[in-house]
Amino acid sequence: MSSPEFYSNAQAYDIAFSDRNFVDECNFLDYCLQTYGAVDSPRGGLSPGNRQSFLELACGPGRHAQEFAGRGWRAVGLDLSPEMLEYARSIEVPTNRPVSWHAGDMCDFTLDEPVSLAANLMESLSHLTTNESVVNHLRAVSSNLASGGIFVIEMAHPDTIWRDSLPNSWRSKSTENPTFGNIPPIDVDVLFGAADDHYDWVDQIWTVTTRLDIHEDGKPSRVVESKYPHRWYQAQELRALIDLSEAFSKTWFLGNMVIPPPRLDNSENSQRMVVVLRK
Ligand SMILES: C[S@@+](CC[C@H](N)C(=O)[O-])C[C@H]1O[C@@H](n2cnc3c(N)ncnc32)[C@H](O)[C@@H]1O
Repeated sequence: MSSPEFYSNAQAYDIAFSDRNFVDECNFLDYCLQTYGAVDSPRGGLSPGNRQSFLELACGPGRHAQEFAGRGWRAVGLDLSPEMLEYARSIEVPTNRPVSWHAGDMCDFTLDEPVSLAANLMESLSHLTTNESVVNHLRAVSSNLASGGIFVIEMAHPDTIWRDSLPNSWRSKSTENPTFGNIPPIDVDVLFGAADDHYDWVDQIWTVTTRLDIHEDGKPSRVVESKYPHRWYQAQELRALIDLSEAFSKTWFLGNMVIPPPRLDNSENSQRMVVVLRK
C-alpha cells in the first residue's frame, strides 16, 4: 500500500529528499551493472542499442531515470502515484531520449522491452508490507529484466529497523539546492515517524506517521499528515523471499551506494542495506 497524501505533494517530497547526489548514485548503479551483471552474454537477449537501459521502480520524481536518460540510456520510470508522474514529467529536462513514464504497480507490470538495469531506491520496498507482495515484485521485475541483468534494492540499514531515533524529523530548504533555483523558495519540515508509532510484532509492520509542513513565500503554510504501513526487512528475510521467488540467480548484500561498496556487515562504512540481484 502506498501513501497517497504524502506522495501527492510531489514537489514537497522532492525538496524533502533532495539531499542526495543523483549523479554519484547513478554511477554506482552503472558500476553494479558492469561489476555484477552478465548482459553481454549471448543469453542476455538484448540488442546492442538496448544494453544501456534502466528501469526506476517506484520512481517518484524519477531523478535517477532522468539522469540515465541524460546519459543517452533508454530510461523508464514507473510509479503508482499520478501526481508523482505528472511532477516528474514537469521537471524533465529535454533530451534526445526522454524517459518513458508508466503509471503502474511495481508488483504487477509489463514493459514493452526488457531492461539491463533496474532499481528500487530510497526504501520504497518498505511499501510492500507482505511476503507475497515482495515475491510478486521480485518476479515482476525479473520478467522485465534481460538475462544477466541487475536489480538493485536500496533499503535502510537493518540496525535502524527498530527506529530508535524517533521522532525522525528535519527541515529541507529549496534554496540550499541549486536544482530548485528556478522556483520560489520553499521550506519543508518533514516528520517521517513519530515516537508513538505502532509496531505490529506479528506482521512486522510499522504504522508510520508522516507530516509535511510546507512553507512557500507569499502563501499560507500547508500541513499534510497521514499514517501508513511500512515494513523494513532484515537481510535473511529478504534472502528467503528472493529464494522463494526463484527469479534471480545471484545475490550480494552491500552496505552503501558508493564505489567501491562496503559489505553490509562492515561495521565502519555500512550505512544502508543495498541488495544486488542478478537474473
Ligand atoms: C520513497 S518514494 C521513492 C521515490 C524515488 N525512488 C526516490 O528515490 O526518491 C516511494 C515511491 O513509491 C511509490 N509507490 C508506492 N507503492 C508503489 C507500488 N506498489 N507501485 C509503484 N509505486 C509505488 C510512491 O508513489 C512513491 O512515489
